[in-house]
Amino acid sequence: MVRVNENYTLLQGSYLFSEVAKRVKAYQQNNPEKKIIRLGIGDVTQPLVPSVVKAFQEGVEEMAKKETFHGYGPEQGYEFLREAIAQVDFQRRGISITADEIFISTGAKEDTANFQELFDTKISLAIPDPVYPVYVDSNVMAGRAGKFSHGRYTNFFYLDATIENNFKPEIPKKRFDVVYLCFPNNPTGQVLTREELKAWVEYAHKHGSILLFDAAYEAFVEDPSIPKSIFEIDGAREVAVEFRSLSKTAGFTGTRCAYTIVPKEVKVYTKKGHALSLHSLWFRRQSTKFNGVSYPVQKAAAAVFTAEGQKEIKEVIGYYKENARLIYETIASLGLPCTGGKHSPYIWFKTPMDSWRFFDYLLDKVQIVGTPGIGFGRNGDGYFRLSAFGERQNVLEAIDRLKTLSW
Ligand SMILES: Cc1ncc(COP(=O)(O)O)c(C=O)c1O
Repeated sequence: MVRVNENYTLLQGSYLFSEVAKRVKAYQQNNPEKKIIRLGIGDVTQPLVPSVVKAFQEGVEEMAKKETFHGYGPEQGYEFLREAIAQVDFQRRGISITADEIFISTGAKEDTANFQELFDTKISLAIPDPVYPVYVDSNVMAGRAGKFSHGRYTNFFYLDATIENNFKPEIPKKRFDVVYLCFPNNPTGQVLTREELKAWVEYAHKHGSILLFDAAYEAFVEDPSIPKSIFEIDGAREVAVEFRSLSKTAGFTGTRCAYTIVPKEVKVYTKKGHALSLHSLWFRRQSTKFNGVSYPVQKAAAAVFTAEGQKEIKEVIGYYKENARLIYETIASLGLPCTGGKHSPYIWFKTPMDSWRFFDYLLDKVQIVGTPGIGFGRNGDGYFRLSAFGERQNVLEAIDRLKTLSW
């Protein structure tokens, strides 16, 4: 008899999107003539842009010849990619991040889930509610959760993002070792201003905390008063780690390439108070447990950071942003309080009934699939997320259907 890792038994239910898929499948089987429009899962629909495809193909060609073949790559990722990221995402924008502080990976999901391994199992954690579920679940798997009671784990402190605080969690009075932040937020689409993010960096300095900042949706931010990176804030280099991804930025959800920035200044401490660099520890972790992203994918990723690539991805982001605007205006016109949709591909709104009932109602009445808010945390109950990653034609059709609903 082999004993299980009991922490896994504390995980709640089936993962959100599998439940969604199950209900959609059942509905389609019972109603084969109905056309379902999917505005649920946060997956992109537009293809890779031409300069990325070209670089990808060139990468594959190189792999086919003895002289240009690549085996295992460098642990942190190819320097040509890390250098391009350092320049385009940071240095050209006046932010001091260097190529050796960037770690290339296959996804921000992996990185946000794995990063907690570097911390003691007893650390105190603050996690937003609602938020991308990976932060909670990966810490449950690691044994930090305590018990599950009334929709929450007893050992986590939840940063409430509610309609009352405009979906911007208040800074806690108490100290927490590690705080997860995600802006633009999934699922609410809410963003923080420079001043608001500065207050979090000050909190981390005051308490000796570490901020794990997920910037997977930074590409949707165009307003200069909203930071795209936590490293735009003075002092963030000592207290923050940032996760970025090409998934939503450049359509890499199926190609897989992301990167995590760990500045050299961030420190963690042994029981005896000896300081260790988080950067060295992440390097050690990655070089032990991860063998890199394929050469053609890194080559394709580097094309995102060329002038042509930047121009092309901006057009695609613009397409999704227009979808977001259309959906947001429709939801608002139905009189449902909503947020997001501006610096984000997500529209988050209050439903006239609980999340899963509204899910079934929307599927049944207008054949639109969205994501029930409860899947992102207890505060998501009574809320719903629509995503702007669909095809324009489907978005327009969905809007027409939504307009027929009355409350
Ligand atoms: C907030 C957030 N972080 C990370 C990810 C995962 O990104 P990746 O595709 O790079 O694993 C997602 C995907 O939906 C997300 O919403």
